[in-house]
Amino acid sequence: MQEKDEKLILHPFSPYRSNKHNINITHGKGALLYDETGRAYIDAIGSWWVNLHGHAHPYINKHITEQMTRLEHVIFAGFTHAPAVNLAERLLNQLGSPYSQLFYSDNGSTAVEVALKMSIQYWANRGEKRHTFIALKNSYHGDTFGAMSVSERDVFTEAFHQHLFKVNYIDIPTEENIHSCETQLEEIIEKEAVAAFIFEPLVQGAGGMRLYASPLLDRLIDICQKHHVLTIADEVMTGFYRTGTMFAINQIRNKPDFIILSKGLTGGYFPLGVTAYPDFIAKSFQSTEPSHIFYHGHSFTANPLSCTAALASLDLLLLPETKECIQKIEAKHLLFLGSIKDHPRISNARQMGVILAFDVNIPHHGYFYNHPIKDILYDLMIKQGILMRPLGNVLYILPPYCIKEQELDQVYNAIIHTLSQI
Ligand SMILES: Cc1ncc(COP(=O)(O)O)c(C=O)c1O
Repeated sequence: MQEKDEKLILHPFSPYRSNKHNINITHGKGALLYDETGRAYIDAIGSWWVNLHGHAHPYINKHITEQMTRLEHVIFAGFTHAPAVNLAERLLNQLGSPYSQLFYSDNGSTAVEVALKMSIQYWANRGEKRHTFIALKNSYHGDTFGAMSVSERDVFTEAFHQHLFKVNYIDIPTEENIHSCETQLEEIIEKEAVAAFIFEPLVQGAGGMRLYASPLLDRLIDICQKHHVLTIADEVMTGFYRTGTMFAINQIRNKPDFIILSKGLTGGYFPLGVTAYPDFIAKSFQSTEPSHIFYHGHSFTANPLSCTAALASLDLLLLPETKECIQKIEAKHLLFLGSIKDHPRISNARQMGVILAFDVNIPHHGYFYNHPIKDILYDLMIKQGILMRPLGNVLYILPPYCIKEQELDQVYNAIIHTLSQI
């Protein structure tokens, strides 16, 4: 199986490692994944941040099984169905005012594309040409061309730089540099025809779980609002209680113009993306003028099974028991953070909601000189039956909410052991 896999399939973000095989997972239950030999792995990163309630959850299984016997999919142009409408109603209800409409797509990247395209077309439909965007340095918004364009330009996007559209970057705000960030933002807005400012609210995920404070984000959004620049909150990673509140934007005073959701949206079952926005944006597309129509769609837009999984995941998310689990994870993370923050091998230990992260100080000698630290850390954790996927030298935990206390302790102990090995 693994030899065939290697020959037939190119895996995502996976540098070629001649001596490594992909692990063949046959089933999962709760926070555990099992390989073909029956060995268990604790999924400490919710399978790339998508899994909220654990693998093969009986409640979500039941709902999608019922749905698939009724309707698996139908074209979403000229047709609609209850799962899509009910999900839109419930999500918009959770997001609250002013969000009044949403657009379905397939994943985080496509939901970002939708927000970028809608921003440009919103201005075009009003007769204004606005083509540039502002983004934060070190950001990650996905892998399609628009999403790559607004992400940090680095080795991940290097091959495509000449094909990416123009974006102006400002520094990640801190207490020390906020005045400079405000000035950078104002200068760009003055010089350029800016359609929108896009950001990952409060946490830059793929950029290394970098946190920044909510009042700083509010100050940047204030400037955008003052100058009529649209704002886009990419909550693909932060949505659904990852930062301790339902959405990260619940921790800021401003309401960004677009909210992007994906990953945890279906509880980790199916790909689905959502781009939500207020009435004034919805209205700009309510036109019979051909050039004002939003010409965008995917074959699987609003797939009924995806929407049903999302509805079932939302049911689970709103249970008091789930809230308790989230609070327990937060409390345990805090305790662990206190116990390791002065460890000589780590720095910058940080926590927000169920996210715990720290930088591993890389030894600059011997074996470590030639081997990427992320591979070393990954291998050491996998050997102990823990799935973690370091971002460079940043090790982080972002577990499904069903993780048991004893499983979390196992993860913490494996981290301590790993740090003792480097
Ligand atoms: C903030 C953010 N936006 C967008 C994406 C892209 O999502 P997807 O991988 O579903 O395309 C990611 C993926 O990690 C993300 O973290």
